[in-house]
Amino acid sequence: MPITAISGAASGIGAATRAALEAAGHRVIGIDLRGSDIAADLSTPEGRAAAIAAVIDACGGTLDHLVLCAGVGPQVEPASTIVGVNYFGAVALLDGLLPALQKGNTPSAVVVSSVASVHLPWDQNPLAGPITAGDEGAIKQILEAAGERSGQLAYAGSKNAVTVAVRQRVKIWGDAGVRLNTVAPGAVATPLLQKGLDDPRYGQQIRDFVAPIPRHAQPAEIASLIAYLLGPQAGFIHGTQMFIDGGIDAAMRPTQF
Ligand SMILES: NC(=O)c1ccc[n+]([C@@H]2O[C@H](COP(=O)([O-])OP(=O)(O)OC[C@H]3O[C@@H](n4cnc5c(N)ncnc54)[C@H](O)[C@@H]3O)[C@@H](O)[C@H]2O)c1
Repeated sequence: MPITAISGAASGIGAATRAALEAAGHRVIGIDLRGSDIAADLSTPEGRAAAIAAVIDACGGTLDHLVLCAGVGPQVEPASTIVGVNYFGAVALLDGLLPALQKGNTPSAVVVSSVASVHLPWDQNPLAGPITAGDEGAIKQILEAAGERSGQLAYAGSKNAVTVAVRQRVKIWGDAGVRLNTVAPGAVATPLLQKGLDDPRYGQQIRDFVAPIPRHAQPAEIASLIAYLLGPQAGFIHGTQMFIDGGIDAAMRPTQF
């Protein structure tokens, strides 16, 4: 039975992924703030370290798959929390759990990024420098100076950085025998999207962001792509980002890929 750790397993895409993988015979170790197997706050260094230790304990040091879904939307304050969960939370779990994954059976990992990852390219991402330096203090300063734009900057900047972090790890993870990819969803019907729609600062903008397939994805549709990427049929897919966005990236950037 494959053992799979999932962050953000209590809700939305993480909960749908848990259900899909359990139906396929996985034993799932869920991580979330509450309502899962391991309670941990991935916005803090202590919470990330506790989550890694608890997963290693629960799987006995050998993990087959890892899915990182934990994340927060642009409305969360302070905006530094968005970077803390979406970037630092994900990267800490990737690096901390690689040794356990290396011992797994045909191991693989998927990080849930976003179409927003391409809205702020790395060479224009003001958070790129302090993220590379791991300087959370400098990130806070940049976000405070951004004022009303801080939530969007933190969300797009952290999603861009987490996709870059996956791509930068492709050689080390390939050498370790562990496949690693990202998925980039558009709007998915989850509590995270609803909180954005309900926020007076972001609601209209999100409503205006209509994909060529003009509806929101269901979490189960994202879960099925994640399950595919984890499994043997995706055995040569490594270091890539798969958009699952109803065509919105192609519509917005037809010549860039
Ligand atoms: N819903 C969308 O439209 C959409 C679009 C693109 C990308 N995404 C990404 O998909 C991922 C899953 O989001 P979702 O839409 O399923 O949202 P969701 O709110 O349903 O689920 C996110 C989960 O992450 C957990 N979480 C948040 N902060 C945490 C913390 N500090 N420590 C531990 N767990 C924490 C939450 O408790 C929740 O269970 C996120 O990374 C999000 O950025 C979502």
